[in-house]
Amino acid sequence: MRTLIKHIQLLCQIEETTTQKNIVVGKNMSKVPSLSDSWILIEDELIHSFGKMSEINDNQYDTEINGSGRLVLPAWCDSHTHLVFAAPREQEFEDRIKGLSYEEIAHRGGGILNSAQKLNMMDETELYNQSLQRLHEVIAQGTGAIEIKSGYGLNLEAELKMLRVIRKLKEQTPVAIKASFLAAHAYPLEYKNNKKAYVKLIIDQMLPKVAEEQLADYMDVFCEDGFFSVQDTEQLLEAAYKYGLKPKIHANQLHYSGGVQVGVKHNAISVDHLECVGDAEIESLLSGNTIPTLLPAAAFFLGIQYQPARKIIDAGLPVCLASDYNPGSCPSGNIPLLLSIACTQLKMTPEEVINAVTINGAAAMELQKTHGTIAIGKKANLIITRPMNNLAYIPYNFGNNPVERMMLNGKMV
Ligand code: NIG
Ligand code: FE
Repeated sequence: MRTLIKHIQLLCQIEETTTQKNIVVGKNMSKVPSLSDSWILIEDELIHSFGKMSEINDNQYDTEINGSGRLVLPAWCDSHTHLVFAAPREQEFEDRIKGLSYEEIAHRGGGILNSAQKLNMMDETELYNQSLQRLHEVIAQGTGAIEIKSGYGLNLEAELKMLRVIRKLKEQTPVAIKASFLAAHAYPLEYKNNKKAYVKLIIDQMLPKVAEEQLADYMDVFCEDGFFSVQDTEQLLEAAYKYGLKPKIHANQLHYSGGVQVGVKHNAISVDHLECVGDAEIESLLSGNTIPTLLPAAAFFLGIQYQPARKIIDAGLPVCLASDYNPGSCPSGNIPLLLSIACTQLKMTPEEVINAVTINGAAAMELQKTHGTIAIGKKANLIITRPMNNLAYIPYNFGNNPVERMMLNGKMV
């Protein structure tokens, strides 16, 4: 099956060489290689070839799509979400408007524990159906690859339930999905005075089971003052490595907690959130290969300080952007809106934000060989936009969906 999209206004984020790039860093983030007045040919689920209309080959194809006046780009790669959850938390949203902080709500037994209580009560089928609906919603906004975390179970049975739902989403949908095991998201109430015992439970009972069923790609920890300490984090990451689970961790959201440094030390794929980043964190990031992943839509929704994206990029580092879709700090997986927030609040340029959610998002899920750019042989996961002239229009036209049609694995969805 071959599909040709022709007369494309701008084919964005292309790679013409065979030596494919893995990640875009520093100054290079301001370049998005593109071809105007172009075509792309898709064969089965892969990108077969592309070029300028003036040099179109005499290609055979089954279906033709007219891309005139539209951009075609690689689908977003959203490398940090908690898309599997049981219920929204709008009451806490109102409490925060009235002055309570995210941490105060968590200390009262709200927040993550509130979500865990609801999730424990919900059966797997219902949890799957709700999550599938959310996944369809973000696909319609351009997402084609996504990481999803557990972490609202907080006991063996419910963590496995979440991870099985993620696995089923992976099996039943055309989206590329990676799973992270995040039992170290909060201490269940019954472990409030015996935190070490919960860490031990994760290591001795949960991790072996998760590994045995091959339910996770990564190990995540909410490393933060009041949640999991640097010492807990180290212990958890070391245990996870024995089962082949690499780290991707929550770090430096609320405090200068040492999360960035511990992530880099343990070769984390990424350290995520990063509201609190100073010179020591930058220095640490420069010493390793861990990807700084910023979640500014969560900072927007919580009304906390934004991540210092300029400082990170200007230091020559990569930046990845992800949604953090979750019922507490970011009840939206809307990537186009995230891009607008990153431009207006973090002062990233339109080209930088596009790199941050395509190639760099793919790298933060180790999918850069197959996703994140338009390159021959990569998955045909493509966004065809509504009529527009250039990339900057996407974050500029905030609150509106730039996506007209989505192609995943070579099929229109
Ligand atoms: O990434 N910071 C920790 N975890 C999530 C929020 C979880 C929740 O509030 O339900 C986050 O923001
Ligand atoms: Fe998160």
